[in-house]
Amino acid sequence: MSFYAGERQQKIYSSGASGKRPIVPVDLTQLEEAARKKVPAKAFAYIAGGAGIGQTIQNNRTAFQSYEIIPRMLRDVSVRNTSVELFGDKLPSPLLTSPVGVLEMVHPRADIALAEATSSLGVPMIFSNQASRPMEDCAAKMGDSPRWFQLYWSKSNDLVASLLKRAEASGCSAIAVTLDTTILGWRIRDLDQAYLPFLEGKGIAQYTSDPVFQRLMDEPDDPNAPQLKPKVTLHLLKTVMQMKKNYPGGFWKNLRSDRPLKAVRKFTSIYSRPSIKWEELKFLREHTKLPIVLKGILHPDDAQKALDYGMDGLIVSNHGGRQVDGAVGTFTMLPEIIKVVDDRVPVLLDSGVRSGSDMFKAIALGAKAVCIGRPYAYGLALAGAAGVTEVLSNLMADFELNMALSGCTSIKEITPDTLRKVRY
Ligand code: FNR
Repeated sequence: MSFYAGERQQKIYSSGASGKRPIVPVDLTQLEEAARKKVPAKAFAYIAGGAGIGQTIQNNRTAFQSYEIIPRMLRDVSVRNTSVELFGDKLPSPLLTSPVGVLEMVHPRADIALAEATSSLGVPMIFSNQASRPMEDCAAKMGDSPRWFQLYWSKSNDLVASLLKRAEASGCSAIAVTLDTTILGWRIRDLDQAYLPFLEGKGIAQYTSDPVFQRLMDEPDDPNAPQLKPKVTLHLLKTVMQMKKNYPGGFWKNLRSDRPLKAVRKFTSIYSRPSIKWEELKFLREHTKLPIVLKGILHPDDAQKALDYGMDGLIVSNHGGRQVDGAVGTFTMLPEIIKVVDDRVPVLLDSGVRSGSDMFKAIALGAKAVCIGRPYAYGLALAGAAGVTEVLSNLMADFELNMALSGCTSIKEITPDTLRKVRY
């Protein structure tokens, strides 16, 4: 799959000559404001928010300012190649979509629209464990386009094994295990709205479509799990109706069934295991042949440990600043992690990537690729699959032009000496 920035620019400018503006803002930082006006306040708070006062979100952005690009001249950049290879897949650009759960909050076609958009470009989609649609339904729309599955380590190892099996059957090229969310962060915007979408039965489609989860629903809940006992109000009845609507089969089929409620209760009692330790990674290794990538690594010692445990890749991530407030920006930690990893496995980076220049800097310091989260969710909110396609295409075009104008014609030419560390 090839992609050319020049064609993208031409398309936009020639549409402009006919009086048409782009369907979503080209500036990825402006997208957020446009989406804020479109989506319900609770959904927007859930997506845009971070942990605590949002210092980590800010740190992610300022980290990219700590290095600057020094463009080089007269190097014949008329032909460019931005493609990279990752776990046997050829990518048009060093870009993937981060797993983002509960996309139904912003668009009814949710993950399906995302699957259509990413596969139209050949950009790998990482299916979220908290998706609004089962991975099989997305895979069915994607042809041969690359996809990964992101796993949250449930309290049930049987469920983990089942999800891994389904990921293999859905044609995934890798498993990304998210390590930073064994407990939900203190997200003040969601707390102020007193809103968690999972309690409406949203974002649990990978569970309700799973045969092991269906079996677990008939087993007693963990007595130590937090019990939610809301007072019966009109609002609660509306929430229960939402659960029935969101459960497979839809509202009318589930009208008299208690399974939608059971599913939410079971989900809240088993979704994550805060007791998880390094040794347990062996379980994953025994249950999948796919490469295992650890998402959420920030410390070089953890990167070393991942290698010691035979992991196949890392995503330097702080979950888009949603977990620990005041955590280090991901780009700040990249050089130390790259040094430890020493080219033994691919290192990816997400959290705060908002431009082709951010991508360039991450590649220059040794990342194999970057992932983006919120920007494509905003594109989805504003214009469905077409909105996501625009966001991803714009970012790839921006990256290609930055690469060319800096004097590089391919990824391997984007080396550390294309940058200078800013001295304050
Ligand atoms: C996320 N993220 C996330 N990560 C994950 O491993 N599984 C998930 O289900 C989710 N869900 C999710 C929902 C929402 C609304 C957001 C914003 C994020 C984190 C995501 O994969 C990624 O790490 C960040 O979004 C990257 O940061 P940016 O690009 O959003 O700044």
